[in-house]
Amino acid sequence: MSRTILRGRVLSFSRAPESIEDSESYLYLKDGAVSIEDGLITAVGDFAAVGRADAVVIDHRPNLIMAGFIDMHLHYVQSQMMASYAGSLLEWLNTYTFVEEQKFSQQGHANAVAVDFYDALIRHGTTTAVAYCSSHPRSVDAFFAEAQRRNMLMVGGKVMMDRNAPEDLLDTAQSSYDDTKALIARWHKRGRGLYAISPRFAITSTPEQMEMAQALVAEHGDCHVQTHLSENDAEITYSMELYPDAPDYTGIYERYGLLTERTLLGHSIHLNHRETAAIANAGAVAVFCPTSNLFLGSGLFDRDRMVKHGVRIGLATDIGAGTSFSMLKTMDEAFKVLQLRGQRFNPLASFHLATRGNAEALGLADTIGSVAPGRAADLVVLDARATPTMRMRMATVETLVEELFLLQTLGDDRAISEVYVAGARAKSTLGGL
Ligand code: GUN
Ligand code: ZN
Repeated sequence: MSRTILRGRVLSFSRAPESIEDSESYLYLKDGAVSIEDGLITAVGDFAAVGRADAVVIDHRPNLIMAGFIDMHLHYVQSQMMASYAGSLLEWLNTYTFVEEQKFSQQGHANAVAVDFYDALIRHGTTTAVAYCSSHPRSVDAFFAEAQRRNMLMVGGKVMMDRNAPEDLLDTAQSSYDDTKALIARWHKRGRGLYAISPRFAITSTPEQMEMAQALVAEHGDCHVQTHLSENDAEITYSMELYPDAPDYTGIYERYGLLTERTLLGHSIHLNHRETAAIANAGAVAVFCPTSNLFLGSGLFDRDRMVKHGVRIGLATDIGAGTSFSMLKTMDEAFKVLQLRGQRFNPLASFHLATRGNAEALGLADTIGSVAPGRAADLVVLDARATPTMRMRMATVETLVEELFLLQTLGDDRAISEVYVAGARAKSTLGGL
């Protein structure tokens, strides 16, 4: 196989930074080389020290090479309904979302949206995402088939939902079990695909369906599990009416064995002490979706409280309630949410979370999330001078930390100069853009 070397500045985290001064938490090479063979990173080091015999060198200087971004929660079937005008979560779901998702009963529609969705991910520097499909199995087929075509590591699953939505979107407890089983057999660990068992949330699942989700989780312990938790006050109230015996919202999922180390709990905003402790004990992940939480007015994620309790955290766009595919914009909005909470979220911590932190939260840090030998060559190349405004500000930037903060505060898809998926150029080769 041929060998490729990417030359540029290289940044990769080896653990979560403890402070903005924590330069031990990452590797930073001013003139670095990333050697790639067969889709994998085989060596990382100073350009002058890495052997170059027979290698093709691609020069990205002065740009910054990092692990590709990971988006821990989004709905690919909502790509065409971003920016839908609503006052709150339940109004937004009923007015737009449940209408939009019905279109995915059509294979042609699902296939076409999947193509646009992956193009959008790549344009924004996201190389892995954890997605909800619609309740229709064919939406899952479109999702994984397109991921496979692009050789991308993607996690996703069919939403299970058997009540409180339009008839055409509903499955049944039994059909959701059968369909999920068949989809796991078809797509889990096929290519780079990984399946996530996906009961949508307590409001749209009957206790019978929760039992089916419980059985699926018990039978497929190597699949991820994803659901929504404690996003909005009216949602919490309704959930507690539907499950009157549960001690709290988290207790509903707990009762059905859905809190595991592979469970991703979207939002997790309004949690009491017992819930936070239960999530920490289970090793489940609270997924922070800042642009969505601001857009729907859902509330302010309490990161410091989660960290204090030892809860694992992920970061995500939550398209289509989220307002950007960009993980740079997502870091920016995360910073602002935490400002409103009186909490500091430094740029080392946010770039760590969007790469290695999210990989750890998925249990995939050996595969993705860092620029290190043995990892997949899923990479992003960042240009901090991509726009006139960024260029103007870069004139006064002196440190790496300042540059990262500029990238997240002023950057968007224009700052993504190139993307590599399993070692292959993916952004510059997108058609028609
Ligand atoms: N809760 C249940 N379904 C959804 C969804 O599609 N988006 C968001 N933001 N919250 C949800
Ligand atoms: Zn969601």
